[in-house]
Amino acid sequence: MNIVIPREIATALNILNYNGFEAYIVGGCVRDSLLGNAPKDWDITTSARTDEISICFKEYRTINTGLKHGTVTVIIQGMQIEITTYRIDGSYTDNRHPDTVFFTDKVADDLQRRDFTINAMAYGKNGIVDLFGGISDIESRIIRCVGEPDERFGEDGLRILRALRFSSVLGFKIEKNTEESIRKNKQLLCNISKERIVSEFNKLLMGLDFHNVMMEYRELVEVFIPEIRIFNDKEWETILNSMKHTDSLVLRLALLLNETGNAERILKTLKYDGKTISSVGLLSSCRDEQLIPDKIAIKKLLKKIGYDNYTALIKFKAAVFKARGHVFFNELDVVYEAEKAAEEIIADNECYSLKMLDVNGEDLIGAGISRGMILGDALNELLDLVIEGKLENKKEVLLDYIKNFKLAVDK
Ligand code: CTP
Repeated sequence: MNIVIPREIATALNILNYNGFEAYIVGGCVRDSLLGNAPKDWDITTSARTDEISICFKEYRTINTGLKHGTVTVIIQGMQIEITTYRIDGSYTDNRHPDTVFFTDKVADDLQRRDFTINAMAYGKNGIVDLFGGISDIESRIIRCVGEPDERFGEDGLRILRALRFSSVLGFKIEKNTEESIRKNKQLLCNISKERIVSEFNKLLMGLDFHNVMMEYRELVEVFIPEIRIFNDKEWETILNSMKHTDSLVLRLALLLNETGNAERILKTLKYDGKTISSVGLLSSCRDEQLIPDKIAIKKLLKKIGYDNYTALIKFKAAVFKARGHVFFNELDVVYEAEKAAEEIIADNECYSLKMLDVNGEDLIGAGISRGMILGDALNELLDLVIEGKLENKKEVLLDYIKNFKLAVDK
């Protein structure tokens, strides 16, 4: 088994070995390499203690990332490499941080504390160290805890969601004992910070097998999104089916939460970022908006929500109708017509926003409209009339109209 390691990482391993220490790449990078995927980062585990790591790399810039946990970051040719001493975690009282960590000289001890067999392999100059059947589990496409699942989940409740995430992203099945333990210990997720939950949940949602995982482990998702309990099995399946029709996270979240009637609040509680909250919120608020393939109606909607949100809304509606099977009338065709009409509006550069109007605020002030509310009203009225085809989008036409508008206001 041969793993291609970046030159900077190989340099770090060689320096540690040259100084008499054991050193391996470990965890996610070994898993991803064996899967044939490009690792996102490369972690190194070593028998050297932090002070020894610093001495080995005295000619390089080092950052004392987490001395208490045994980690030093070394920068080699611009690449930040985390090097951590082999460690055994002490007891966990908060299901997250070990109260203490003990350093050890055996790589086996370090691998034993890790969550899943596929994440508990190391690779160094003598090849792979696979003490818990990680390679065989990769081959059989299985997520299995290292050792006793209750203990692993008790140490860090987030691992429950990580199991689901890996199952979704890799399309692996969760092994029976691990699965039983996940269900038994699901309440441990309550002790986990929302930020950590969201980071795993987003990956789960974007995984190729999210549908099956969310079907099988709905009760787990209910621990941190209790609002989904209102759905019966059929409704839940329809929602998950609709999510298959898009590969955008925002749209998947909107489709997942839309029917709760509370999407924005749920995302706020989960501490999602503001941009995601507002995009999902906007889609939810437009969920009852009728898409009529009529250009004036579309331009009015474009004025209200902008082109990007309109495109998202089209995809959102299409996904909902596809999942429902659009039995009654051809709602899906209407959506596609509305999409085509919007594309034509854009291609023809037809005016639907204040920015596209042939006059701006300054022009209207020049024509005698005072600043403030009235100015806004005047611009909006002009835009509506242009959208409705009652006025041509030409400066002289618009200014001419505004004279009358001013007269009406002045009266
Ligand atoms: N790990 C663990 N328990 C956790 C988190 C991580 O045992 N709750 C171990 C695993 O061995 C994991 C390694 O630490 O492989 C690195 O963790 P992390 O970088 O969070 O995730 P990866 O497994 O590398 O996966 P990815 O980079 O795809 O998120």
